Amino acid sequence: MQYDFSEMIDRRHTDSVKWDVQDNELPMWVADMDFRTAPGIISAIKQKADGGIFGYEEVPAAYFEAVQHWYATEHNWTPHTDWMRFVTGVVPALSSAVRRLSHVGDNVLVQAPVYNIFYNSIVNNGRHALSSDLQFHAGAYAIDWDDLATKMAEPLTTMMILCNPHNPVGKVWTSADLQHIAELAATHHVTVFSDEIHGDITDAGHGYTPFAAVSDLAANLSVTAVSPSKTFNVAALHAATLIIPNENLRNQVDRGINTDELAEPNAFAIPGSIAAYTTGSQWVHELNATITANKQTLTTFVQQQLPELHVIAGHATYLVWIDCRDVTHDTQALCSAIRQTTGLFISAGAVYGGDGHDFVRINVACPPARLQDGLNRLAAGIHQFEQA
Ligand SMILES: Cc1ncc(COP(=O)(O)O)c(C=O)c1O
Repeated sequence: MQYDFSEMIDRRHTDSVKWDVQDNELPMWVADMDFRTAPGIISAIKQKADGGIFGYEEVPAAYFEAVQHWYATEHNWTPHTDWMRFVTGVVPALSSAVRRLSHVGDNVLVQAPVYNIFYNSIVNNGRHALSSDLQFHAGAYAIDWDDLATKMAEPLTTMMILCNPHNPVGKVWTSADLQHIAELAATHHVTVFSDEIHGDITDAGHGYTPFAAVSDLAANLSVTAVSPSKTFNVAALHAATLIIPNENLRNQVDRGINTDELAEPNAFAIPGSIAAYTTGSQWVHELNATITANKQTLTTFVQQQLPELHVIAGHATYLVWIDCRDVTHDTQALCSAIRQTTGLFISAGAVYGGDGHDFVRINVACPPARLQDGLNRLAAGIHQFEQA
């Protein structure tokens, strides 16, 4: 390995949302990694800081070319640069797209359990979140196609938010899944917003497929959101890109992101993103190897020490979804008890909707030694909960 993913960096008292915890607590909740970002990004940001002038900026062609280069080389998809728009984050862009591409009172489809903030983007804008819940069977999740078709066909359903790959269940959708979604969306005139923020973080040999890459049909009815923020742990850089092949959709979304004022970069967003996309490939591959190993460590630990829990095998994201139904159907109470007794702070699944109340989500993007600390606390917390 060229890069070090074992360094135990102290993030307390750094204004980190994740690490705003008591001294004895260990946070393994929000999707934020405990690794220092790729060196190329740090140098680019330092170089920008050294220039000392931070006036208004426009997004240069080199930014869009860097995004294009990344998708071509990492994901075998070459989106045109003129399909792209810079935005200050995936969630602000999603909320803006919901406002532009659907109407108050419409249904916006999701697949619960899913990233909880999707519900905010829908409900806070006066739309109705309609879920076609993922079916959980024999330890794995799948789409209930009949249910999805029925919900797409509802006259008020105008938009779907796809999480590709899926947070929190860690699923990489196949090209066939994506094409099937595109066909249903086309039949029922539904626009798909494909949130691909987790697309770079997959196990070797399990790369994700961008929704718009599966067919012209999918490309034509979709808005894709990508960002270096999860991949390189640069969420506070506030940089993301919308990719919208369909000109009419692009124009509508473009109006939205401009009236909502999310189309202008801060001083570090552009150099940081260009460096990520042009110099970060090896770093990400080593990161993915580290995450895969951590997921394996967690799975083995749970099998041996906590056989009453069941890890859902997923090939994407650094978030692990764990079935706790043999311990409780109220994992909010479980997580509160674990935090109280051991200081381990993990996410209770109910906020993701669907059957989430039976699950917890654990973030394993940390050095192996910190993961081990977390696993020991998890075992102690579960055992104490069971005995209480
Ligand atoms: C699926 C998904 N989308 C979006 C975000 C956040 O995106 P941003 O910080 O660019 O708004 C997250 C963060 O965890 C996420 O998991």
